[in-house]
Amino acid sequence: MKLTRAPLPDLPPPVVLRSALTALRLVQRGTQALAPGELALWDAMVGVARTELVGLAARLSLAEHIGDGALSAEALAERAGCHADTLFRAMRAMAAMGLFALRSDGRFEQTPMSRALMKDAPRSMRDGALYFSSASNMEAWRSLEHSVRTGESAFEHAHGMSVWDWFAQHPDELETFASAMGRATAIEAPQLATLYPFAEITTLCDVGGGSGTLLSELLVRHPHLRGVLCDAPGVLERARDLLATRAVLDRVTLVAGSFFDRVPAGCDGYSLKNVLHDWDDERSLKILRIVREAARPGARVILFESVIEPHDTRPEATMSDLQMIVACSGRERTVDELRSLLGASGFRPGRVARGAHNSMIEGVAA
Ligand SMILES: C[S@@+](CC[C@H](N)C(=O)[O-])C[C@H]1O[C@@H](n2cnc3c(N)ncnc32)[C@H](O)[C@@H]1O
Repeated sequence: MKLTRAPLPDLPPPVVLRSALTALRLVQRGTQALAPGELALWDAMVGVARTELVGLAARLSLAEHIGDGALSAEALAERAGCHADTLFRAMRAMAAMGLFALRSDGRFEQTPMSRALMKDAPRSMRDGALYFSSASNMEAWRSLEHSVRTGESAFEHAHGMSVWDWFAQHPDELETFASAMGRATAIEAPQLATLYPFAEITTLCDVGGGSGTLLSELLVRHPHLRGVLCDAPGVLERARDLLATRAVLDRVTLVAGSFFDRVPAGCDGYSLKNVLHDWDDERSLKILRIVREAARPGARVILFESVIEPHDTRPEATMSDLQMIVACSGRERTVDELRSLLGASGFRPGRVARGAHNSMIEGVAA
């Protein structure tokens, strides 16, 4: 999504988006129910191939090479520097999953899925595809059994360090992750901006705010608001450019450091978007208590989290829950669990507003 001085485009209301997703899932489940169990199981068994094929298409820029035309595997192999016959076989498998289409003349053309993989697509998923298919993430998933047996982080088991320490040592992977997060946040930010009455806040600190995508959208939409952006130093470097592009840099203070040490004091609002889901309860409480120490009485903490229900079977919720466990010992939580964390860290649980993906849960510093 292109970021400019203008507000990002609004999304349809949460209820419309949630209903559309539910309808899609019902159709998918209906189709699956008609297939023999073995076939449905085969489809589930080869999931790793699908992740890898999507990542491969992104790394080789196949969608960009094809553009608005159609190319044979030979022509594509020449442009992408590949072995033609093997590329044909990989692309045929991609076509079988709807990523590219194989025409009757043997050439490949784009589909809505492959267009979403393009770097310059309005809502490009390219960085997400690169992140999910990265060797470090795939290797962490291979330690899921360790997580399930012990409750410990799969990533740490596989790599001997936390994902955040890994990113600090692998700036290219940090760049991909931060960009993927920023792009996902850009899609949702206009809706998140409506889930809380930001007119009630004067200075908002976005804790673990990444590259500033959410904060910049809130500042563009609320000219009275000033912002503080806290994150790791490497992440804040790219935030400065984004805040400048959106013409809000002069209203933002950048504070590099760990939210396990301190967050800036004296703001009347502290937002945490998709931060707590990266951490177990003990460390989530630690973050919230540090925010509470910094907040004056009456200040608000505004959580944006993708809430899950105890018996939720939505793939996007359950897979995100597991991705958090695999990558960082985190988890998705119910609204009640999030409100309990707020209560246990010195915040009175307040308003809740449901979004299409992330919801808003408010706490008021007691
Ligand atoms: C899942 S990302 C969310 C980013 C942003 N809030 C968004 O939703 O686009 C979590 C963020 O927490 C930051 N983070 C992780 N550990 C941190 C720490 N100890 N102190 C400050 N930020 C940290 C990461 O750099 C990352 O930007």
